[in-house]
Amino acid sequence: MASHILKTHDLTFASRPSLLGQHKLSYNGLDLAFSPYTHYWKEMKKLCVLHLFNPRRIHSFCPIREDEVLRMITKISQSHGLINLSETSMSFTSSLICRIAFGKRYEEDQGSRFHIGLLTEAQALLAEFYLSDYIPWLGWVDRLTGKLWRLDQIFNKLDMFYQQVINDHLDQSNQQQRDIIDIFLQIIHSHNSTPFHLTMDHIKALLMNIFIAGTDTSAATIVWAMTSLIKNPGVMKKAQDEIRSVYGEKDFIREEDIQRLPYLKAIVKETLRLFPPSPLLVPRESMQKCNIEGYEIQPKTLVFVNAWAIGRDPETWEEAEQFNPDRFFKCEIDFKGQDFELIPFGAGRRMCPGMQMGVVTVELALVNLLHSFDWDLPDGIHKHDIDTQIKPGITTHKKIDLCLVAHSHTKTR
Ligand code: HEM
Repeated sequence: MASHILKTHDLTFASRPSLLGQHKLSYNGLDLAFSPYTHYWKEMKKLCVLHLFNPRRIHSFCPIREDEVLRMITKISQSHGLINLSETSMSFTSSLICRIAFGKRYEEDQGSRFHIGLLTEAQALLAEFYLSDYIPWLGWVDRLTGKLWRLDQIFNKLDMFYQQVINDHLDQSNQQQRDIIDIFLQIIHSHNSTPFHLTMDHIKALLMNIFIAGTDTSAATIVWAMTSLIKNPGVMKKAQDEIRSVYGEKDFIREEDIQRLPYLKAIVKETLRLFPPSPLLVPRESMQKCNIEGYEIQPKTLVFVNAWAIGRDPETWEEAEQFNPDRFFKCEIDFKGQDFELIPFGAGRRMCPGMQMGVVTVELALVNLLHSFDWDLPDGIHKHDIDTQIKPGITTHKKIDLCLVAHSHTKTR
């Protein structure tokens, strides 16, 4: 069924619905992820692929990624005792995205806490159920329950943050062109060479996408991978043996080294199969009438594709609930949008453009976490005590933070 929606009828289902939370936080659909399928979306996507998501650009961010992973590893090796991997991963991905997309790192703990708080609240509101989306005349209930007030509050805080990021760029406008915000500001200052009239709201909407989509999904994947590994010590050992037998002498594993680690790559795939961070992808909306297997689908039908259930389908996957990366050495299925048995990044026109960036981030963080440390459960906790429940939100985060004990394996920096 997913291939009917995302491949055969991809164009028909390439639009997004206008849901209250997503509409508000995306400046009325001016972003990439929640914008309907329009000429505007196509132009915006072209600009983002050109300046942010193309392979050459992604490769150019390699030194920033390596530096942020090194900072994370150093911080872990300097802190004794329990490591909260949920917090550590969010702080790592949010610093990384801020540097890649906003050209700025937030040094103090307070700064990064502020962003993580904002992120958590924003992503919960993006997935919130608003009665007015389904029964418009009951919209007053959303106001009464305080949901609209919360949405306004978080929107205002995010807006102030984006404005600060833009102001920082304007202050440095005499410097060389550095990131996607500089490019967008340049377009505005050159009296708009785009087919649509680019404004500050367009930039802010895009910042929201990059900030939320880029930070949350990669952090959640790192945590789910470590959760699965601590619950499956045999897999953890096999991964560490692979890394240490190939790169035992190294202090730090570089991005270029990962190609020689097929088992690590299989772990990331297996994590995305069992724990796709966006389990229902991002909702689609049909643009015209169509017929799928005898069912007539009307225009403006809201469609959720259940990537979570697809990844656990026992008809496709042997022992579907087991965390077993070896399965990928026996099958060709990949997550790149061609195989509809595994679609953590979606597929078709609206497929995730950040896939490559997300995967390389997760792989680099994971390989160094496994290379630099041996991981243990806290005293008195057994592997079956580690739960896999999720927090509500558009991205599935582990409900209870993952806290593990790290023992340094490589020389500490
Ligand atoms: C493990 C990492 C990631 C996962 C699992 C993931 C997953 C997804 C999924 C499922 C969608 C919806 C696809 C669909 O509707 O078919 C999506 C869309 C999107 N993602 Fe990602 N993502 C990841 C990383 C990133 C990163 C790092 C960025 C940006 C820096 C990003 C930016 C976006 C954007 C802009 C869209 C909207 C595309 C559109 O509607 O045209 N993602 N992502």
